[in-house]
Amino acid sequence: MSGHQKKGAEKLWGGRFATATAASVEAFTASIQYDSRLYRYDIAGSKAHATMLADRGILSGEELDAILRGLSEIEQEIDAGTFEFRRDLEDIHMNIEKSLVERIGPAGAKLHSARSRNDQIALDLKLYLRDQCDIIDSLLANVQKAFVNLARQYLGAVMPGYTHMQRAQPVLVSHHMLAYFEMFGRDRSRLADCRRRMNLSPLGCAAMAGSGLPIDREQVAAALGFDGVTANSMDTAGDRDFAIEFVSCCTLMQLHLSRLSEELVLWSTQEFSFVDIDDAFCTGSSIMPQKKNPDIPELIRGKSGRVVGSLMALITLVKGLPLTYNRDLQEDKEPVFDAVDTVSASLTIMAELLRNLHFRTEMMAEATRYGCMTATDLADYLVVKGVPFREAHGIVGRAVAYCVSQGCELDGLSLEQLRQFSAEIGNDVFAVLGVEGSVNSRISTGGTGLQRVEEAVRRAEQQMGIA
Ligand code: ARG
Repeated sequence: MSGHQKKGAEKLWGGRFATATAASVEAFTASIQYDSRLYRYDIAGSKAHATMLADRGILSGEELDAILRGLSEIEQEIDAGTFEFRRDLEDIHMNIEKSLVERIGPAGAKLHSARSRNDQIALDLKLYLRDQCDIIDSLLANVQKAFVNLARQYLGAVMPGYTHMQRAQPVLVSHHMLAYFEMFGRDRSRLADCRRRMNLSPLGCAAMAGSGLPIDREQVAAALGFDGVTANSMDTAGDRDFAIEFVSCCTLMQLHLSRLSEELVLWSTQEFSFVDIDDAFCTGSSIMPQKKNPDIPELIRGKSGRVVGSLMALITLVKGLPLTYNRDLQEDKEPVFDAVDTVSASLTIMAELLRNLHFRTEMMAEATRYGCMTATDLADYLVVKGVPFREAHGIVGRAVAYCVSQGCELDGLSLEQLRQFSAEIGNDVFAVLGVEGSVNSRISTGGTGLQRVEEAVRRAEQQMGIA
């Protein structure tokens, strides 16, 4: 029994406890298996905190030196994979602090003055996510660049644009590519907002009420590259909005990737044959020798569930949590890490795949010739001739029905046949029934007309620093 008592006292918080923690409890409460990922940020935070404590006379110069040296040593050992993480020390904070005390003695035991693991974990997670915002932003930029390059490469090529997955109006392939450029651009601006809002230091809130020691929160914040400090210690100790916001951003990115993936899967079918995904980015079947499967976009589409799941886990985690810190919050890390890993891997491989994507422009152009895709152009033509649009819509609808019954296209009808539907139709009608004329007439801002798309490609290239 007395042996047990000593063991309990070995914990950094062991003073109050008479007996050792049950092994099952240690296993259940430990987070070191996953939060060791935060060590770099934990150490950076401790160094800034210790420096401030020394400036405020809470640590001596020698104590600060010993702490900084000890922390650097620990960081090197973790980098090298030689540091021994202990589950009985629960988390990354106590693994590092305990090791520091073992190395440098009493000075190490002073590091936790004016600090709690509650503000410490909020700090570590913010520093980690701030870095991830920057890394993911550059991955998004790579995807955007790939789209700009495709838009430039295939400038002038046409394809069917769809609504309801039915052929709607002919568009430029480049216009379709730049649609994704815009989507991923919004993801970047959302991430930038999220980063800006999270960039306030939580350190110094301590357990939740602030500190009675003469600390300087602003100094620590500035040293760690924050824009300032959080305003309310109680809010700070229990705030995980920043993590939820970050994973929301990840969710939208993954959903965008999933929509793109769906198109790539569809376009690479024999039925569509719009794209050829490079052999290096496809896999085969173990039984059907002829198969070449689009597994990458399929997996990316499938991984959407993981990211959505992470977001669900996080929002459910904070629902009904009273102020301030509650141990529930330890459950925030795995969903955050999984969202980071999934989104990063998906963005990286998608950029690579896009750089190895070949469009079968002749198949795409061929597809625009069927389905009366210039029907809207014929209606617009009648509008210009003074026919009210609703009436024009009816006239063209009847012409299309006639084409369907005859198995032909609008531009396959003779002038006499067309004039049976409206006497307003003249010889100039054939200019608007062609695919090229249709595309190039759409020069409204944001439209698919070649002139507009050329400008858009140039703008995108400038934005991305290409050419
Ligand atoms: N491992 C904990 C977490 O991730 C650190 C904070 C623990 N604080 C506490 N009072 N037990 O949330």
